[in-house]
Amino acid sequence: MILAANANAQGSHVGEWRHPTAWDKPASNLENAIRLARIAEAGRFDLLFLADGNGVRNLDKPDLFAATSPSDRPGVFEPVTLLSALAMVTEHVGLVATTTTTYDEPFSVARRFASLDHISKGRAGWNLVTTSNPGDALNFSHEEHVPRDDRYERAGEFAQIVKGLWDSWADDAFPQDKASGRFLDPSKVHALNFRGKHFQVAGPLNAPRPPQGHPVIFSAGQSETGKELSAATADCVFAIEGTIERAQTLYADLKGRLPKYGRSADSLKILSGVTIIAAETEEEAEQLARELDDLVPPAVGLDYLSKMVGVKMSAYPLDGPFPALDFEHVGPTGIGKAIVAKALEQKLTVRETYRAILPQMAGNFFKGSAAQVADLMERWFLEKACDGFMIAAPVVPTGLERFIKLVVPELQRRGLFRTEYSGRTLRDNLGLARPENRFFAQAGRAAE
Ligand SMILES: Cc1cc2nc3c(=O)[nH]c(=O)nc-3n(C[C@H](O)[C@H](O)[C@H](O)COP(=O)(O)O)c2cc1C
Repeated sequence: MILAANANAQGSHVGEWRHPTAWDKPASNLENAIRLARIAEAGRFDLLFLADGNGVRNLDKPDLFAATSPSDRPGVFEPVTLLSALAMVTEHVGLVATTTTTYDEPFSVARRFASLDHISKGRAGWNLVTTSNPGDALNFSHEEHVPRDDRYERAGEFAQIVKGLWDSWADDAFPQDKASGRFLDPSKVHALNFRGKHFQVAGPLNAPRPPQGHPVIFSAGQSETGKELSAATADCVFAIEGTIERAQTLYADLKGRLPKYGRSADSLKILSGVTIIAAETEEEAEQLARELDDLVPPAVGLDYLSKMVGVKMSAYPLDGPFPALDFEHVGPTGIGKAIVAKALEQKLTVRETYRAILPQMAGNFFKGSAAQVADLMERWFLEKACDGFMIAAPVVPTGLERFIKLVVPELQRRGLFRTEYSGRTLRDNLGLARPENRFFAQAGRAAE
């Protein structure tokens, strides 16, 4: 089972940063990040994962803005910069950062992640996103967000170029031989000369081939085009399905797309996003969940719900029934529709609805004793709903510490999780092969 730690300074719960056991002063705090990385590595986690965006959200929702939802990101590090620092204080844990294909350039991204892979000695990963927050466009000389189909078309070309650039040099292209005066072997470089619809990139990359060949690529799109891009390009998918049935359907769907690209089912790992509150007992977990919910005043909860469903919710009575919003016009995403459907189905009030989504943005949520949480994880894993989990643990860092103290030993006892790192690189630990260089069939031998 793969375990990834969502390593953003705030956990997924809107109120968690106010909890007495949460970090003090979490905004852009390097010492906290170092401590979290060490905690995850001591727990033998596969990787740290940093979601990211290029803009501050929700300036138009004053109560939520002041209290901050974890995805608003008003005070965070640029993720590759942070992971470069964390690479210096860790040895085994993988380091995965989010970078957009919509508002960045393939040469820059290939270079940044090649550098991170060298710095970390083969532990880098790139979470390829097409940008979820439309407002980010305004920071990149655009009037509005690029339409989704164009974003994905650009993303397909972008990924092809990045991989091509990572293959610029044979693995043994840099002898750096003082005696002969040969720094590099000119027969072992390949200039990409890519010309497509969105990009023209000459190459070669100004970095030796990364230790992993290609840093591990994550993606997360849930649309048809998003899933197809994952099947064509990604090594790992970050999925967010709220039920085991939906997760199983997505799992089979994604794995079923692989043969078309000449790939085996094992070559794409699916990690299910989950918020976990684990405690000594079920009652203790419930108590912590209540404490966290109580840290979110109604005005903040309403702004948060408004953000998630795309409708101003303060217009409705807090303790009245959730209104029958017009489904067609609800929410910027499928998440909004799912929240409305759940509220109507379960006849929730407005207050109950925002409390229901505080911990996990309508995604998956495991809560309980170590055995209860391990049972759920085991079931999802064995019944082919996922190959592992992307874990957000309120409260940061104590939620992750508690998970490692209570649940990890239980998973290890059941033979589901490693007790020691065995691989050298992130690819090794994830069970992913090192890609051949497409221009140099084997180290030292140029392709036809
Ligand atoms: C689980 C998950 C995590 C994501 N993480 C990010 C992120 O960190 N930053 C970002 O800009 N977009 C993120 N996205 C947005 C996707 O890259 C994509 O733009 C969005 O999901 C719309 O595409 P889709 O309709 O194919 O899902 C994420 C999406 C999902 C489903």
